[in-house]
Amino acid sequence: MTNLTDSTVFLTGSNRGIGRALAEALLRAGVLKLYAAARDTAAIADLTAAHPDRVIPVTLDVTKAADIAQAVAAAKDTTLLINNAGVAGFTSSMSENAVEKARFEIDVNYIAPLALTQAFAPVLKANGGGGVVSVSSIAALSNFPVLGTYSASKAAVHSLMQAFRAELAAQGTYVGTVYPGPVDTDMAAGLESEKTPAADVAQAILDGIAAKQAEIFPDAASQGMIAVHDKDRHELEAMTGSFLPAAQA
Ligand SMILES: NC(=O)c1ccc[n+]([C@@H]2O[C@H](COP(=O)([O-])OP(=O)(O)OC[C@H]3O[C@@H](n4cnc5c(N)ncnc54)[C@H](OP(=O)(O)O)[C@@H]3O)[C@@H](O)[C@H]2O)c1
Repeated sequence: MTNLTDSTVFLTGSNRGIGRALAEALLRAGVLKLYAAARDTAAIADLTAAHPDRVIPVTLDVTKAADIAQAVAAAKDTTLLINNAGVAGFTSSMSENAVEKARFEIDVNYIAPLALTQAFAPVLKANGGGGVVSVSSIAALSNFPVLGTYSASKAAVHSLMQAFRAELAAQGTYVGTVYPGPVDTDMAAGLESEKTPAADVAQAILDGIAAKQAEIFPDAASQGMIAVHDKDRHELEAMTGSFLPAAQA
């Protein structure tokens, strides 16, 4: 991957939220081609219609191995994989359904980026190295108990990307991880805090990718929190720990 205008991008969860904003920003940035993956590609029909020469819709449930195999086979010219799809159960670790929700979050937020990155790595290598970027969360670095099990799944993908960064260095693959704070999407609808517009976050993510940043903090909230994290990890834990589930607040 030299720059975005030379890139053929495979993007998961491209139908709404940050993924949709990323799809639009990537097209504005002039990518060669965008494999816009979604469980229901009808939701991106407008993007395909507006850019018939550049947008290829791909039906992909990131938890299904057969979908992943089919997607990789159909997208052999990919130079940049963006693992964006994610789920949040907003589950306190103390809630009755925490185990069930945690399995679901781990599957989508951690196992899927693992499976997709592993499957695309040979493709990226064949295309000169390329890059892979996963959207984690600032919650990966300090747990928000209001979404305790989700935070843990995002910590898992944070750690995983460090492993890929080391393992894929030899084939020249850039590996980036994104740590957003609260973003104004369906996922954060129930979260009472200031939220950054998805379009602004998407643009900041692309700026980070263009600069080949290993860690991308794409909004003021995440930048504020990482500053505290770097200065005093325990002070940050007290800060994020104050986001307690309603019953405990
Ligand atoms: N919003 C925030 O405050 C925030 C903060 C930090 C990090 N993030 C992360 O940013 C990423 C995007 O989140 P968002 O805020 O845009 O959430 P969102 O609006 O809820 O969108 C989630 C996206 O993930 C897709 N997805 C979920 N499960 C999938 C599966 N099994 N297979 C394929 N696609 C699946 C959804 O597709 P469907 O429409 O088919 O469900 C949708 O496109 C996630 O990784 C999230 O954890 C978000």
